[in-house]
Amino acid sequence: MADHYDRFNHLCSLGMDAWWRHRSLRGFPVSGRILDLGSGGGQMSECLAEKQAFCVGLDPSYAMLAKGKRLGRVFLPVQAQGESLPFRDNTWDAVISGFVMRNLESLEKTLRECHRTLRPGGGLMVLDFFPPRSRLLRAFFRIYLGRVVPWVYGRVTGLGRDAAWLSRSIEGFMSPAHFRKMLDECGFSNVRMRPLLFHIAWRVVAIKEDVPSGTRHG
Ligand SMILES: C[S@@+](CC[C@H](N)C(=O)[O-])C[C@H]1O[C@@H](n2cnc3c(N)ncnc32)[C@H](O)[C@@H]1O
Repeated sequence: MADHYDRFNHLCSLGMDAWWRHRSLRGFPVSGRILDLGSGGGQMSECLAEKQAFCVGLDPSYAMLAKGKRLGRVFLPVQAQGESLPFRDNTWDAVISGFVMRNLESLEKTLRECHRTLRPGGGLMVLDFFPPRSRLLRAFFRIYLGRVVPWVYGRVTGLGRDAAWLSRSIEGFMSPAHFRKMLDECGFSNVRMRPLLFHIAWRVVAIKEDVPSGTRHG
């Protein structure tokens, strides 16, 4: 899949994937040490390359990470899982993550690891799809993901039309409200969620407070 990933994404999203990534990072402070969690081939990091931001890209897939070579020295690949980050506490100024949360074995463990490795005051920015709320959009999604996407997948990858994993991962994912609650439970604060274009993709930003919540007075 690594070889076909970008083309498949561009075609299925009608080119929106690149716009979503850029849009999600707009206004999000990205200086210092940045972790791109589930980086794949550095598609999110690439959006920051023009700002000369240096990103560590973390992904379990060697084949996906290898695609990040094109970014040169601003992208350092690390092969690991989000559920168990091989970094010390308070390492990152920011953690960014695009289209990964639905694919994790344990979302909660990963969010806790993001919180542990972010420095106090650091921000998490998540871009992902959530199941649509509106009945009309849900029906559209079902047809698009059930028929159009498998067809594109078969044409682009030559691997047949079994792309049910994509619709399963979106339709089976939690609601934005549930995700917000999980972020709270994992210690994040100041959670802001914004839908991007027809509530298909969402941008979620949260902060690791510099004073543990509950100990602040006044
Ligand atoms: C849909 S791709 C997103 C790639 C890239 N972030 C982007 O914006 O296109 C999902 C990525 O999550 C990675 N992934 C899957 N399980 C993971 C885990 N447990 N921890 C970290 N990354 C994971 C996959 O290997 C894949 O590269």
